[in-house]
Amino acid sequence: MKTTRNIVIAVDGHSSCGKSTVAKEIAKAIGIAYIDTGAMYRAVTLAALRQGLVAPSGPDEAAIAALLPSIVITFDFDKALGRNTTYLNGENVEDEIRAMPVSQSVSAVSAIPAVRLKLTEWQRQMGERQSVIMDGRDIGTAVFPNADLKIFMTARPEVRAQRRFDEMVAKGQQPVFDDVLANVVERDRQDSTRALNPLRKADDAVELDNSDISRQEQYDFILNLLAQRGLIEK
Ligand code: DC
Repeated sequence: MKTTRNIVIAVDGHSSCGKSTVAKEIAKAIGIAYIDTGAMYRAVTLAALRQGLVAPSGPDEAAIAALLPSIVITFDFDKALGRNTTYLNGENVEDEIRAMPVSQSVSAVSAIPAVRLKLTEWQRQMGERQSVIMDGRDIGTAVFPNADLKIFMTARPEVRAQRRFDEMVAKGQQPVFDDVLANVVERDRQDSTRALNPLRKADDAVELDNSDISRQEQYDFILNLLAQRGLIEK
C-alpha cells in the first residue's frame, strides 16, 4: 500500500487510548513517517525538570521559555527493540519521558504558550517535508487544521489506565493502579481545560472509541477511511 500523494493524518484524543500504537501500525503499512508529538512535550518537560524549573506550585514559564532554544528533539527507530526512540540533545530519553515524574508534570508544561508555539512550529516543519501521521491533542485543530484525515480517539478512563499500567509493568516499573488512573483522569482535565489549543474534537474529525474493539478492527477502520478518501492505493 502507498499514498496517492503527500498526505497528513492527524490522530488526536485522550491520553493512553492507543493513539501511538495504531498510528505506528498505519505509518508502517502505508510507508509514511510517524511523529509522536506527546514525546516532544514530554522531552521538554524532562529538560525543565532537570533544570529544577517545575515546582509543586507550577512550572516557571519564563525560565522554560528561555530554555527552548537550547533543546533539540530527534527521533530514531531502535531496530533491536523494534520501537521509536526519543532523543533530547542527543541523549536517549525514551524510558525516562514515560515514567511518572514526567507524566505528572507534562500537562502543566504543555499548557505554557511559548512551549506550544515552538513545538507547533517544529511539527509543521516535519509535516511539510513528507507524508506524516502525527498523534497528539491539537494536531487536527491547531497544527494541521487542513489535515487530509482527522481521527479523534477515546476510550473509557479505566480501560486507558489499565493499558498504561500494563505498559509500565512491562518496562519493569512498579506502578500503583489508582495512581495511574488518577493521572489519566487529571491529564484529561488539564489537557481539555487549558487556555491555548485545548484537547477537543475538530468538527471534521471522525470519532473512534476503542474501549470495546480490537486493535485489528481499529486498524481496518482507519485504512478503510483512507481508501474511501482516495488517499491510499494498493
Ligand atoms: O500523548 P502523551 O500522553 O504522551 O502526551 C503527553 C502530554 O503532552 C499530554 O498530557 C498533553 C501534552 N500534549 C499536548 O498538549 N499536545 C500534543 N499535541 C501532544 C501532547
